[in-house]
Amino acid sequence: MRMPVYKSHGVGIARRRIDRNMQDMTHQTQPADAAATDPVPNVRFAADEEYHGLRRVLTYGTYDLLHYGHIRLLRRAAELGDYLIVALSTDEFNKLKGKTSFYSYPVRREMLEGVRYVDLVIPEETWEQKISDVQKYQVDVVVMGSDWKDDPRFEALRPYCDVVYLDRTDGISTTEVRSALNGGSVHGR
Ligand code: CTP
Repeated sequence: MRMPVYKSHGVGIARRRIDRNMQDMTHQTQPADAAATDPVPNVRFAADEEYHGLRRVLTYGTYDLLHYGHIRLLRRAAELGDYLIVALSTDEFNKLKGKTSFYSYPVRREMLEGVRYVDLVIPEETWEQKISDVQKYQVDVVVMGSDWKDDPRFEALRPYCDVVYLDRTDGISTTEVRSALNGGSVHGR
């Protein structure tokens, strides 16, 4: 059976709820700590017929100290399709990038899974996994903030899917929140 592709937000949420239930079922089959580290937490959906009509969007990031710049990026990414996957940098991968997040991977993952626009969180463990992610999850479009515009690591995905860069939200970043908490103040915009 081919499922209809939902574009409007109201119905999209119902669609997302169904997907989330699928995720919950998958997670229940794994030990709690495996759910956080398993490199392919939910391969089942990629082969599952009911997902075939969905336009899948994939984005990458650390999403530490989740803030409104992140939420706005995720909302606009979700609007480009029907199913949003976030490849979330693991703590080990962040180390490789010279970054240390405030929240650990399992906590960052839990918070992203609580965001209504996000359907699935997978681990980002290497720079090289992108093509394989696109193929494994049958991704139609990879979306990144404009700070990544023309980065060869994303441009290399063009033979496999669309690549879209969205404008960043001005005046907010994890780095800024961190430094504001160390003495300054941060405002909503
Ligand atoms: N992002 C955005 N607008 C912001 C901050 C981030 O659109 N103000 C987007 C980034 O472009 C990226 C995603 O959110 O596509 C995740 O970004 P991430 O690097 O995790 O967040 P930053 O706040 O940019 O973190 P840092 O200060 O550590 O670079």
